[in-house]
Amino acid sequence: METVKLVADIKAKISKFKDEGKTIGFVPTMGALHKGHLSLTEASVKNNDITVVSIFVNPTQFNNPNDLSTYPRTLEADLEQLSHYNPDLIFIPEVSEIYPEPDTRKFDFGLLDRVMEGKNRPGHFNGVAQVVSKLFDIVNPDNAYFGQKDFQQVAVIKQMTQDLKLNVNIVSCPIIREKDGLAMSSRNLLLSEEQRKNACKISETLFKARNLAAELSVHELKDWVIKEINKNSYLSVEYFEIVNDTSLEEIKDWKELNNKVGCITVQVGKIRLIDNITF
Ligand code: PAJ
Repeated sequence: METVKLVADIKAKISKFKDEGKTIGFVPTMGALHKGHLSLTEASVKNNDITVVSIFVNPTQFNNPNDLSTYPRTLEADLEQLSHYNPDLIFIPEVSEIYPEPDTRKFDFGLLDRVMEGKNRPGHFNGVAQVVSKLFDIVNPDNAYFGQKDFQQVAVIKQMTQDLKLNVNIVSCPIIREKDGLAMSSRNLLLSEEQRKNACKISETLFKARNLAAELSVHELKDWVIKEINKNSYLSVEYFEIVNDTSLEEIKDWKELNNKVGCITVQVGKIRLIDNITF
């Protein structure tokens, strides 16, 4: 496992691997790694000759400066954890390497960027698309690995890959959870002990909702989930939507013939946690 900081260096190394006919798997992350990130790394190592993991806290996707400055940074521990999974290259660029000039590109993802996280974090997915398109250009991967925890992000990245006609296969991997069900997230590190204890109510309610779907209408189920979580004084639901898993259009009736996913964002004090469940 080798760490690389410069764009020119990583490009040269990857170009050599490509010349040797090797496949490249890529796992973009913002660090503060946990088993969710490591599961993506494991999938990439298993299915590609070479695996590149990037650790880069991307400023353009933070619409809240406080969120950017408090985002956990744990580089040493990250490298230690990664070393057990045998990726080949860890790319850790400075901001100036990725953005020598400000990136002024504006992407249009239509509805994908106007609902849920898109609506509540204006500019967030534009920033994600800026950095991921730059990283794809640098790493030139055959396969890129993303977690279903950030369900809407996967939809946006797939759309971006299509729009830019990139030759990258986007692999979407299952949500990894803590023992009590809470979806693993770098932001869990920012929760107090009491907040952390109560946060498992989010996934617990989503799992119950999946069972209740047979008895309640879509509208009733949405109401139930929001009320159930808001009963806990540590938690405040920002939104809970049940959407078509590709177009992200709102589902009105269970009879609609498409895959349905319930996406939630909950405020736990100042921390926003997201999760989702497939119906
Ligand atoms: P980050 O939040 O670090 O997540 C990196 C990848 O890990 C994402 O694809 C995310 O969906 C996945 N992931 C996070 N928690 C997970 C979990 N509990 N189970 C499975 N996968 C999980 O997402 C980003 O960074 C950034 O937006 C990025 C794509 C790197 C662009 O800056």
